Amino acid sequence: MNILGIETSCDETAAAIVEDGKKVLSSVVASSQELHKKTGGIVPERAAREQIKSMVPVLKEAISGLNKDDIDAIAATYGPGLIGSLLVGVETAKTLSLVWNKPIIPVNHLVAHIYSNWVEVGNPPVFPALALVVSGGHTDLVYLKEHGDIEYVGGTRDDAAGEAFDKTARLLGLPYPGGPSIAAEAESFESKKLDLFPRPMINNDNFDMSFSGLKTSVYNYLKENPEPNKAEIAAEIQEAIVDTLVGKSQKAIEKYKPRSFLLAGGVSANARLREKFIDLFSRENYDAKLFIPNPKYSTDNAVMIATAAFHNNHPVSWADITANPSLTIEN
Ligand code: KG4
Ligand code: ZN
Repeated sequence: MNILGIETSCDETAAAIVEDGKKVLSSVVASSQELHKKTGGIVPERAAREQIKSMVPVLKEAISGLNKDDIDAIAATYGPGLIGSLLVGVETAKTLSLVWNKPIIPVNHLVAHIYSNWVEVGNPPVFPALALVVSGGHTDLVYLKEHGDIEYVGGTRDDAAGEAFDKTARLLGLPYPGGPSIAAEAESFESKKLDLFPRPMINNDNFDMSFSGLKTSVYNYLKENPEPNKAEIAAEIQEAIVDTLVGKSQKAIEKYKPRSFLLAGGVSANARLREKFIDLFSRENYDAKLFIPNPKYSTDNAVMIATAAFHNNHPVSWADITANPSLTIEN
């Protein structure tokens, strides 16, 4: 079964065709990040305008070489995200569904991130699974009994991990998006200590996290140290975020004893986060197997949308798909 996936929830316009929820036949991602670099962050109206312009060329490239009869269904992100951006993908999917007379499968963007761990993987994850979804707007730990059966375990009470990278990068004068900028800056700093900034709630017994205090700590530090060693501060920020994510995940693995642990979302492209999870799994004797997506499927893409749709194939009539900016990972 070939599914055409469409993703436009934030600043990317993406289309992909995936066979049987696993094999990538095509994947195209156009980003308006260069535009947002100028403003230091996303301006929603400008993002949506770029997406309207990019949608048709991106689609054309993704389906080139294939016939419309080779496509069995259309999947589109319907939330969460920016409303103007979501509408571009949803309305495009509706149009194709109507004109081609193909089923349409609505996809939750956060759930789709988890499915990046199924893409081109020989032995896919088995259930039950725990997943840590770390993106620009969300930080969720969830327990999956099977496809479509998702229980919220914990997550951030304030800023998302990606947001913490983006906001602290801005304080340091590093370009948007902040995650890759901080990671690159941190690379040149070598120290074993890395304990300048707090890891709030790390020792609590629940799975809640908090990242907004980090922004304040960095702000206060920079006020007192107006000419900081940027590489050092970047490394300290990265370590504080990574420690919190790994620490809470460790607690959740010990409690839920899953058979798979799935890292997902844009922040899962972070090399230090990956390294610390690999260390954890080689140190502890967990029954769970660790899955980390290929970095090109960590950040927003349409392959994960088509893959999630294959494993949760619940088509609706084109008139019944509505963009929902505040969708949560559980519904
Ligand atoms: O999942 P994603 O591509 O988009 C959303 O759904 O939000 O995640 C974007 C987030 C941004 O906050 C970005 O700074 C972060 O992922 N990110 C990273 C890295 N690459 C992207 N954070 C840390 N290290 C990276 N290498
Ligand atoms: Zn995302």
